[in-house]
Amino acid sequence: MTGLDDLFERAKAARARAHAPYSHFPVGAALRTPGGAIFAGCNVENAAYPLGVCAETAAISAMVAAGETQIAEILVLGPGPGRITPCGACRQRIAEFATPETRVHCADETGAAQSLALSDLLPLAFGPVSLRRDQI
Ligand code: THU
Repeated sequence: MTGLDDLFERAKAARARAHAPYSHFPVGAALRTPGGAIFAGCNVENAAYPLGVCAETAAISAMVAAGETQIAEILVLGPGPGRITPCGACRQRIAEFATPETRVHCADETGAAQSLALSDLLPLAFGPVSLRRDQI
């Protein structure tokens, strides 16, 4: 057992429900809030291709719909056997609810993960604080 087992299992279960008939690239994601709640999501593609939604985005939507707004850590699981990292748009979406130190776990099929700080994936991020014009 590792500390990521629960996130891995939730991401894997969500990935099994991915709707990816066009890319055949199912992805699952699971995030934990500071209070310990877990929210998961999968990618949901569309016949109108640009409308597809990434797994991380779906997990974030589930979190927000439940009234939560902070990501303590997030795990992403691609179709395997290797690891994937979140796409650029999802890095920005994660940043909206995270800190530069937030861990992003990129898991492989065995559950082993490469864990990165969000700031490694999205350095010099534009975020909510950037909109505070008194910060200049
Ligand atoms: N995808 C995700 O769900 N998350 C990522 O981090 C990378 C890509 C999805 C989008 C699309 O449905 C499929 O994987 C192929 O790009």
